[in-house]
Amino acid sequence: MSSQILNSINHQKIEHTPIWLMRQAGRYLPEYREIRAKAGSFLNLCKNPELATVVTLQPLKRFDLDAAILFSDILVIPEAMGMELNFVENEGPKFSNKIMTEQDIDNLDLNDMLAKLEYVFAAIKNCKGELNSTPLIGFSGSPFTLACYMIEGGSSKDYVNAKRWLYNNPELSHKLLNKLSDAIIQYLIKQIESGVDIVMLFDSWGGVLSDAAYLEFSLPYLEKILKNIPQVNHLGSKLPRIVFTKGGGLWLNKISAIGADVIGLDWNINIGEARTIVPANIALQGNLDPVLLAIGDRNALKKEVTRILGSYRAANGFNNTGHVFNLGHGVLQITNPDNVAYLVDLVHELSRA
Ligand code: CP3
Repeated sequence: MSSQILNSINHQKIEHTPIWLMRQAGRYLPEYREIRAKAGSFLNLCKNPELATVVTLQPLKRFDLDAAILFSDILVIPEAMGMELNFVENEGPKFSNKIMTEQDIDNLDLNDMLAKLEYVFAAIKNCKGELNSTPLIGFSGSPFTLACYMIEGGSSKDYVNAKRWLYNNPELSHKLLNKLSDAIIQYLIKQIESGVDIVMLFDSWGGVLSDAAYLEFSLPYLEKILKNIPQVNHLGSKLPRIVFTKGGGLWLNKISAIGADVIGLDWNINIGEARTIVPANIALQGNLDPVLLAIGDRNALKKEVTRILGSYRAANGFNNTGHVFNLGHGVLQITNPDNVAYLVDLVHELSRA
């Protein structure tokens, strides 16, 4: 059977709507927690290509998913540029030397970065060796989303420090965002050379920006990256590029114009309405609320999946193609894996009918 996800993205005939889930490998899976304990820490796990491969494949062993996503993290780029990264239990990522001055930007080291990230490229090659025909998704954070963590030093509720930079020091902000874009371009080119079939840009925090700030500080850098990475894979076939700005529903017109093949949607927007805004040649990914999957009420889940599939179909000439089912953000840790199995089979079954 040919790849349902690549066919759907390329608007070809599909047998069912393909599905994969952001954070499909992670702490909600007991077998993930076991390997993570063996690795000692999350970062050790990312840096061990053999274990990262095992964890990438875990959800595909359990569920009938249509794609794998490389197990890694968006924050490995700043780490490889010289920032000290730790994942603190229950607190998330922490940089001990956050970006505060222009000198800190100048100190970010692009020269050794790719060599330090060799473990990512090794994991990609390992995964491709194990995956047969299932496509492998590579990814990067967006420049703005990476800058948020680098300036805040970790997760943040309101992004005051990152926004202070944008508003008070736009020139330096652009300097940082340009440097990050160059790093991301090199990183994604190397991921593509190593064998990924699809790439995705996670602009997870773009949606916290004002309209003007998004159009100045996030969108142009997403565009710069898309303009400078290949549109074909290492074998010369078309390589789809997914752009996901969480909270980006307000900017669909503008995101449609930067060269993405797929636009990721969170759960705030109606996918049928999005279909009428986004040009027909661009596929859509999403848009189930992760909380609904975590709660696991089968009736509620079935009702919402039916609604999403129907909304897309009705707006797409009663055809499912061009849709990649996903959550609107990552799988929550409290999710019972049985709910994921139910969802994956449900999406396949309902879209086949
Ligand atoms: O989707 C996948 O299954 C692939 C792996 C993946 C991870 N992180 C694994 C991970 C991907 C694609 C990411 C991307 C990522 N990382 C994003 C963008 C997507 C999003 O969620 O918005 C962001 C913002 C990060 C930064 C990050 N990494 C945070 C804020 C955290 C802590 C949050 C938490 O759940 O504790 C991480 C850690 C992380 N990344 C984990 C996993 C499985 C949990 C680490 C652990 O095992 O303790």
